[in-house]
Amino acid sequence: MTVTHPPATSAEWWRDAVVYQVYPRSFADANGDGVGDLPGATSRLTHLRDLGVDAVWLSPFYVSPQNDGGYDVADYRDIDPVFGTLPDADAFVAEAHRLGLRVLVDLVPNHTSWEHPWFVAALAAAPGSPERARYLFRDGRGPGGDEPPNNWLSTFGGSAWTRVTEPDGSPGQWYLHLFDHTQPDLDWSNPEVRTEFEAVLRFWLDRDVDGFRIDVAHGMVKHPDLPDWTGRSRIMAADDDAGADDGSEAAGAETGDPGADDGMPEGPMWDQDGVHDIYRSWHRVLSAYPGERAMVAEAWVEPLSRLAAYVRPDELQQTFNFAFLMSRWEAGALRDVISGSLAAMDSVGATTTWVLSNHDVVRHTSRLGLGGGFPPGIGADDPQPDAVVGLRRARAASLMMLALPGSAYLYQGEELGLPEHTTLDDDLRQDPVWTRTAHTQRGRDGCRVPLPWHADAPAYGFSPTGASWLPQPSSFGPLAVDRQTGVPGSTLELYRAALRLRRERRLGLGPLAWVDLGEEVTAFRNADLLVVTNLGAPIDLPAGYDVVLRSDDRDDRVVGTDSTVWALSAAR
Ligand code: NOJ
Repeated sequence: MTVTHPPATSAEWWRDAVVYQVYPRSFADANGDGVGDLPGATSRLTHLRDLGVDAVWLSPFYVSPQNDGGYDVADYRDIDPVFGTLPDADAFVAEAHRLGLRVLVDLVPNHTSWEHPWFVAALAAAPGSPERARYLFRDGRGPGGDEPPNNWLSTFGGSAWTRVTEPDGSPGQWYLHLFDHTQPDLDWSNPEVRTEFEAVLRFWLDRDVDGFRIDVAHGMVKHPDLPDWTGRSRIMAADDDAGADDGSEAAGAETGDPGADDGMPEGPMWDQDGVHDIYRSWHRVLSAYPGERAMVAEAWVEPLSRLAAYVRPDELQQTFNFAFLMSRWEAGALRDVISGSLAAMDSVGATTTWVLSNHDVVRHTSRLGLGGGFPPGIGADDPQPDAVVGLRRARAASLMMLALPGSAYLYQGEELGLPEHTTLDDDLRQDPVWTRTAHTQRGRDGCRVPLPWHADAPAYGFSPTGASWLPQPSSFGPLAVDRQTGVPGSTLELYRAALRLRRERRLGLGPLAWVDLGEEVTAFRNADLLVVTNLGAPIDLPAGYDVVLRSDDRDDRVVGTDSTVWALSAAR
């Protein structure tokens, strides 16, 4: 048996951590306005402790007009009133620490909100001013400067440029926004921008956070010439040969050439070598603090060898593994992405991470119930996922993921087997993707629906008043936390048992050795544990092993289609 990945020798907390993503507006609402908040999240932290995770990543809670769910920050040092106050944030961190949970907060450095004082000042100032130099303002092309400075497209649809009206009322310059027009991109070649964000890091480190999730970590530095680009964007985009076997385009994917698979950066706005200099300086900022502070990159970068550059020893600690998230539900594809990820991260001494769902993609319970593909949201008139197949595969995928060496990221609600809301009323959609694509892409609201805590309470216990910023589908009721707690075989108890065993057996630090049980089976050993995920016809568990945990509800030695079994040697 060949060991593909050796056991870890170093054990900083994040190397094998299971991190739970809280999307605050949809987690728990204490004040009853229908939007989740920090006091609500604090009151539910015991759920995370009981689940058995190591850390919590909080999506943005900063002052923001909320045009992109808070990823449009107007003040990096204060809390939006809809979520609470700075003391509420301090209380969240303190309670998490009391419960033994680390806290990562979200840093959004690629762009600010257009309500940020810097951008307000830039609009009031003249072209060529220091105020404009913090952003990417350029003169337009063509007669009268009427055309955008280049042909870049926003990841959310439409042009990546918006023209301003100058203070004297004349049509003016254009500013770059890789996302919504309310999210102007900062110019990271400006030292003032770098100084400011190092100060923001320190502000939160001083408030005792354990680290940061870095938004759009591969996008801050642009090619200095801002040249035209006809390839496609990689952010939140599908791998050409992962998932999209029905020909559908992925969320955020733009039209154009399929993009190079030759190891070159994908476009002059992504993965420019200059970003690494920023991360080396941030590494030094974090190193000056006691404890093991850590950063995880949201970097949609291919191939894995280029992604690994973000987690070299003097840069970030982790990067999300979107190649894993985007893998087809196919044993060979899963084996390849697991091997490739471990090899790439091992080559720089970094930990590999695993993730199946987050607030930007269709929940894996629903995604895996589709015939393939990676749709940019699902609406009532789209093909609907098969809920039974989806949940079966999601449980199998999660149980496989939680046995892999490295660190795993969970998205709130996946421990309940929550599906995407696939029939949300289009009038209620809030994701800017829906409007910016002229209603051709449903966007991400369906994975952001508030959590069900109590089946019989208003808004399933999300808020005391029954208010909920997005309506919850009736399918959420039977999946509420109180309906699954203590119920053998429930998805919640499956996650709890998996996390307990993972911790006891230190699976996150273990070696991985592949076991050949056939083409349609992904099977490996992590130290003594045999992990079998069967994507083909039912097979028998190898002789000499006893089942210790399984994603299906069988009680025999058969590993059925779309199921995962954890087993230990009977002779132990
Ligand atoms: C990635 C975040 O996860 C997503 O929600 C956001 O819309 C974009 N970055 C822009 O900040």
